[in-house]
Amino acid sequence: MTAAKPPGQEEDDHIFVDRVTKSFGSTHVLKGISLHLKRKKTAVIIGGSGAGKTTLLRMLIALEKPSTGHIWVDNEDIAPMGELELNRVRQKFGMVFQYAALLDSLNIFDNVAFPLREHRKSWPARRIREKVMDILKLLGLEGKENRMPSELSGGQRKRVGLARALMLEPQILIYDEPTSGLDPITSRMVDDLIEETRDRFNVTSVVISHDMTSTFRIAHTAYLLVQGLVIASGKPDELAYGSVEAARAFIAASGVDPKQISRVDGAHDESATIKYKAM
Ligand SMILES: Nc1ncnc2c1ncn2[C@@H]1O[C@H](COP(=O)(O)OP(=O)(O)OP(=O)(O)O)[C@@H](O)[C@H]1O
Ligand SMILES: [Mg+2]
Repeated sequence: MTAAKPPGQEEDDHIFVDRVTKSFGSTHVLKGISLHLKRKKTAVIIGGSGAGKTTLLRMLIALEKPSTGHIWVDNEDIAPMGELELNRVRQKFGMVFQYAALLDSLNIFDNVAFPLREHRKSWPARRIREKVMDILKLLGLEGKENRMPSELSGGQRKRVGLARALMLEPQILIYDEPTSGLDPITSRMVDDLIEETRDRFNVTSVVISHDMTSTFRIAHTAYLLVQGLVIASGKPDELAYGSVEAARAFIAASGVDPKQISRVDGAHDESATIKYKAM
């Protein structure tokens, strides 16, 4: 679909959150925020508890509507859309939930096959099997297909959640706190996984995070939300050393020293699959 570029949108915006507010009754949760989520890049949204991150996420994936403002996805405003149109737009998104949100009573194969069985009803079982086995292999989960979710490690479960999110070939992947509850080593592997996935599948990544190390490793752009406003945005270094004192303080309070953190930039080499397997 080719629509005119909305005013204020920047080059390469995949999603343009345009002066969005959200109120629940008299509670003003988001107070007019704008974000430029760039095509095939990683944006990380950080902020303290209650800042409005989950509320923003729910509007991005069209589970909620803004009170005012627009959300442009590929130049289309999803804010006024009805259910039929939203269902089309929702297919652009894949969601990787905080605790992987696997179905405990289904084995790994059936968890990953689930979206195909729901949305590709005309596909024969053989085609579904091939696609599921391909992605499991790519994510280093070969041989795990008959296991139950409870028999996997935290990092493996994340990969299963990612495999499932990739099944319908989304253009945009949204991660809700992908490293929370994981040990530091597994967390760094999840950072690599996010960047390798972006590179391999050419997706736009949007990550909600509390993890400053992760933010410095993967964000092309970081947005700091405080009490429903974006108080700073830019490269993580621009937040850590820029002119916004509250942003410098937020990062300093995390105890993470940005100078000690290396970016994930090895997403181009052929050993990517091997790294998946090491997790
Ligand atoms: N449906 C709702 N009705 C009323 N208030 C809500 C609703 N959803 C969220 N809120 C309020 O909006 C504010 C922001 O909530 P939100 O869940 O977006 O925060 P968050 O940044 O995701 O926090 P956390 O880091 O703790 O997950 C909170 O004060 C919350 O109580
Ligand atoms: Mg939240």
